[in-house]
Amino acid sequence: MSERLNLVHPEVLANPYPYYAKLRRDAPVSQVEPGGLWAVTRYADVIHVFKNPQVFSSSGLQRLMEPSWLGYNPMAHSLMVMDAPHHGRARALVSRAFGTSTVARLEPMLRATSEKLVSALIAERSVDFIPAMALPLPAAAIGHLLGLDASLHSRFKHWSDQLAFISATADSDLEGQQRIRHTLQEMEHYLRDVVEARRREPSDDMVGGLVQARVDGEALTDKELVSFLFLLLAAGLETTVNLLGNAVMLLADMPELLERLRAEPALVPSFIEEVMRYETPGKATFRLTLEETELGGVRLPRHSLLVILMGAACRDEAYVPNAEKFLLGREGQGNLPFGHGAHFCLGAALARLEARVALEALLPRIRGLSRKQEPLRWIPSIQVRGLTTLPVEVVPA
Ligand code: HEM
Repeated sequence: MSERLNLVHPEVLANPYPYYAKLRRDAPVSQVEPGGLWAVTRYADVIHVFKNPQVFSSSGLQRLMEPSWLGYNPMAHSLMVMDAPHHGRARALVSRAFGTSTVARLEPMLRATSEKLVSALIAERSVDFIPAMALPLPAAAIGHLLGLDASLHSRFKHWSDQLAFISATADSDLEGQQRIRHTLQEMEHYLRDVVEARRREPSDDMVGGLVQARVDGEALTDKELVSFLFLLLAAGLETTVNLLGNAVMLLADMPELLERLRAEPALVPSFIEEVMRYETPGKATFRLTLEETELGGVRLPRHSLLVILMGAACRDEAYVPNAEKFLLGREGQGNLPFGHGAHFCLGAALARLEARVALEALLPRIRGLSRKQEPLRWIPSIQVRGLTTLPVEVVPA
């Protein structure tokens, strides 16, 4: 491998942790491939970036999401790509509609869906866990939140995959560009319909709440609403699919852990926290420097593009002791896998609920779980850590 670490090199994708450890030790803020991004790996530096959005900006990323061949991209105008003061206003508006009661109301549907998926999985015995359960559960949750027809759920993965390709699509890849433009139009069409229907007929679901939300008498415009729904789909689907997949992969590799959780289901939430830390599903996010600055003793020019490696910071001894070990029942662990500061994940409670409900449905019904001894196939992404497939054999209880 060349001097600079390549975050999407197959060896790094397979096991990034020794590389992260080396960066944290020798070059905690340094340029990596692809694209000469500045990687930030230590816990203290990651927190510094998240706490100083006036220097490490999110809105600066907008132009990367709207390359000239694409034109308007609703995602580039969403909450996640805003800075103060716009971010504070938009977040206050959507937080009201996306509060704890919205999430709690999803629980019965999530339980029923999980039970059904587990029954099918047990009947089959030998399945790919990703399409069998890891994907359909979060797709049902997002579909419900967005008020989209269940028949569209299988389309969501395609949509969120296409959104992820935008910044990686070359100016010369006309076919790829056409596919992405088509996806954006299709998504916008469905999401606009949902918003218009709630404007015509008020409802007490999340989109209904968003339509009615006011801060200082101001509502969200249709454009802002559609951007937010785009963001929920992109931010809420793949991350949670990966959390479920990573959890089951770890259970298959640690049978004693599976037995312990079956005996003590109260440990499930703490298991989920440790999976989030140990195999962080949203392993990175980005920021752009608005001025020349210093970080971890390194001078960064204005307009440096930073990749904030939460996956590396979560294995920093400054974050937790014995950070390279998977330990159940850690106390006082922070929320870093869900970000920090102004942009802290709005869906953290929902993701945790989905994972808990899925495992509570699965664990009592299986005695064992083994995965085929083939190399794991990780998604070739800078941002997410998850498996493309996870073939498993289940032994029913
Ligand atoms: C923001 C991770 C699930 C909605 C974030 C951020 C992270 C994150 C790290 C901060 C990004 C940044 O600062 O640049 C995760 C992980 C999840 C998950 C690991 C699952 C395991 C969800 C779900 C939803 C959601 C289920 C909603 C359905 C959002 C939104 C934001 C966000 C709307 C933007 C908040 C803002 O910009 O103010 N997420 N997320 N996430 N997440 Fe999540």
